[in-house]
Amino acid sequence: MSGERPKTFLEFIEEKPNLKYFFTGGKGGVGKTIAAAGIAYYFASQGKKTLLASLNPVHSLSSIFEQELWGGEIKKVEGAEHLYAVEVEIDDIVARYKQQLSERLRWFLKWADIPVKADDFIEIAATNPAFEESAMFDKMIDIILEQRANFDVIVFDCAAVANAVRLLGLNKIYNLWLERMIKSRQEALSLRAKLSFRKDKVMEEIKKDPLMADLLNLRRRMDEARNFLNNPETTAFFFVTIPLALPISVVKRFIEMVKAFEIPIGGVFVNMVIPEEAMKVEKSEYMINKYKEQQHYMEIIKREMWPLVRAVIPLFPTEIVGIDMVAKVADAIVSWKPS
Ligand SMILES: Nc1ncnc2c1ncn2[C@@H]1O[C@H](COP(=O)(O)OP(=O)(O)OP(=O)(O)O)[C@@H](O)[C@H]1O
Ligand SMILES: [Mg+2]
Repeated sequence: MSGERPKTFLEFIEEKPNLKYFFTGGKGGVGKTIAAAGIAYYFASQGKKTLLASLNPVHSLSSIFEQELWGGEIKKVEGAEHLYAVEVEIDDIVARYKQQLSERLRWFLKWADIPVKADDFIEIAATNPAFEESAMFDKMIDIILEQRANFDVIVFDCAAVANAVRLLGLNKIYNLWLERMIKSRQEALSLRAKLSFRKDKVMEEIKKDPLMADLLNLRRRMDEARNFLNNPETTAFFFVTIPLALPISVVKRFIEMVKAFEIPIGGVFVNMVIPEEAMKVEKSEYMINKYKEQQHYMEIIKREMWPLVRAVIPLFPTEIVGIDMVAKVADAIVSWKPS
């Protein structure tokens, strides 16, 4: 993989003028949120109306921007023109999902004459971790379908990369599952029509079948979602890592996973890299060792994923808090040149 000169973030986006949906993922604490904020800030500063959406159950946009962005509503980010943000509230979505599922399940059990209480099923389904993820995935699709006409760019800050990839990968699994469900639902309904003496009544019932309507509606949404989620001209998934063994191996593993799910890869951001200039005046053995350790892992990154690197973001002297700091991150992302 090494040798080839990487395309910078700026070159990458200039080559793809229709890019609209950005995702960041990576191991916990590596800088997914600051990278998403930096990307969003950059586009907003270019006059593009930009939405930064946090899909992470543990939000941090409010603390990064030092303003109240929670509550699940899209809010204008004060102090940054064209920039909006939303911290998606997972609890509401899970509750709503549960409610919807229980209505459908009750209806289905009654329809199929199955004499059991739906509540137990719903509890089991809702405690499955995939339930939360699929609720989040649905919300992401909602945001895209509802907001794509209102925004030029939408940047999603995802939870840990496993979640993010599953979140996007669900699309494919969802689709397979849907096809099966629709088919078996059609079979069940036509069988019922065949067996009934009152065909007209059954046909009426079929037309009103809420389960079928749900499935068809879901399929329509998924088809629409696939049009852009798997499209490398509109969508790019960025991995964030730091120069350390574990985050690098996480990124390598997930690059493979993402490929299998046909999710378009934007590239890799290497974050928290101690700048060489800082080392010219640095005397402490501790910092010198840290720097050497990072340089060792930078060599590994160069060897194993260099063509995918789109930016190296320096370790700043303080944490990233406030618009001015986010602007510096954005600047680091777009001004990076490979050496
Ligand atoms: N380049 C940097 N220089 C200095 N501090 C940084 C840098 N990148 C990130 N930080 C700080 O590190 C912490 C983690 O960053 P961030 O919240 O973006 O990570 P994350 O991957 O989103 O974490 P989580 O997995 O918890 O969502 C924050 O306090 C942030 O301010
Ligand atoms: Mg985060």
